[in-house]
Amino acid sequence: MLAERSTPVLENDELGLLRDTAFIDGAWVTGEHRFDVTNPADGSLVGTVPSLGAAEATLAVDAAARAQPAWARLTGQARGAVLRRWAALMLENKDALARLMTAEQGKPLAEAAGEVAYAASFLEWFAEEARRVNGALLTPHATDRRLVVRKEPVGVVAAVTPWNFPLAMITRKAGPALAAGCTFVLKPSELTPLSALALARLAELAGVPAGVFNVVMGDAVAIGEVLTGDKRVRKFTFTGSTAVGKMLAARCMNTVKRVSLELGGNAPFIVFDDADLEAAVEGALASKFRNAGQTCVCANRLLIQSGIYDAFAARLAERVAAFVVGPGLAGRTDQGPLIDARAVAKAQAHVEDAVSRGGRILTGGAQLTDDAHAGGTFFAPTVIADVPASALLCREETFGPVAGLVRFETEEEVIALANDTDAGLAAYVFTRDLGRSWRVPEALAYGMVGLNTGLISTEVAPFGGVKESGIGREGSSFGMDDYLDIKLTCLGV
Ligand code: SIN
Repeated sequence: MLAERSTPVLENDELGLLRDTAFIDGAWVTGEHRFDVTNPADGSLVGTVPSLGAAEATLAVDAAARAQPAWARLTGQARGAVLRRWAALMLENKDALARLMTAEQGKPLAEAAGEVAYAASFLEWFAEEARRVNGALLTPHATDRRLVVRKEPVGVVAAVTPWNFPLAMITRKAGPALAAGCTFVLKPSELTPLSALALARLAELAGVPAGVFNVVMGDAVAIGEVLTGDKRVRKFTFTGSTAVGKMLAARCMNTVKRVSLELGGNAPFIVFDDADLEAAVEGALASKFRNAGQTCVCANRLLIQSGIYDAFAARLAERVAAFVVGPGLAGRTDQGPLIDARAVAKAQAHVEDAVSRGGRILTGGAQLTDDAHAGGTFFAPTVIADVPASALLCREETFGPVAGLVRFETEEEVIALANDTDAGLAAYVFTRDLGRSWRVPEALAYGMVGLNTGLISTEVAPFGGVKESGIGREGSSFGMDDYLDIKLTCLGV
């Protein structure tokens, strides 16, 4: 049975941003089957989209392969101009994109609007980078040789993106890909395809040529098999869980594709006795509770030194208890619903496990099911003290609004604790000691470290992890490299 659509998500949708068709080769296509997109705040219907499979994914790769040579032949400036128009359209339509995102993903409207700007910033950034794809003339090894190094687009890029950032995780990949001269086939999450399709509509309006940006969704396994198996796809980029990333990357090796992976984290959030208490609490709120704890860089384990532990725990619990939890489209909301019932069950299991190991709930601890939250997947923002490092909260990515506090005594102990994981995405350190500010970030086996800040994401900085958290970097000038091949011409003169 279909859920009822309560109120239209977009009142005046003059540009047609709410799509019910996929986007292949510059055309809006339907399919034999469809699936519903629902609002996690109340289960209502937001829209329906075609459920596509291997055949349509292959058509999308055909289109991308056809379009790639002409797109690559344009100057960097010309490709950059298209990306800039796309970014400008995103910003002009920020409110509509944010509403659509909140409706299908759940995050509060202000956070969704923030994500639209964040997403547009990647298109703007790479619009500039498009004109700086420079090679090199090397000093030759012999007097009758000249060595020319050029950077060339890798070709057709396929991307699989997650539901937690329905726009930004797309533009952080499509921006550098298109800037480099690659074409793009996207499979967004089936939980949030509407934002991806609105983005495709804006790409069309911005003048992205047919076949350069394609969007297919539906049978994730069948589409994934094409995107990882078709030899015309020369690069595969994925943001999502470590387990799925490993499986997709393994398939890509059959045709030796370039692979970028942005996978799960298990971020330690370390607060030393000498930290500024208010700054540390503010950092923890931003890092742990952004997007209801559903980010790969969310603080997962809060490791607090014993001298500041009680004060930090009390202040964090006080601030978290004051959160307004509710539908993201309804007035002031600090935290929306989790993406689905599975996410709620995982948060609940982590809470129960922590309590069974001696954890003390300071605030929250359960799903919210009262009238104001009926029909939604809301979980109370939670702080648990006295969590042992053996708890699930510390060993698995919770991906929910549950902060478990672990007590530590020494710098050596906390570095060992922080590095005791296969993940290596983001870590956070709060200290006012100058030496420690250098020592500890250097000792942490992570791709990104926030020092006295809980927010590290920006288009300007490289985003990515080490160990099992991924391969490659997104954003920043480093983010272009993943979409470029290096070609040597050795000239005999
Ligand atoms: C993610 O959760 O994968 C991305 C978070 C970010 O860009 O800050």
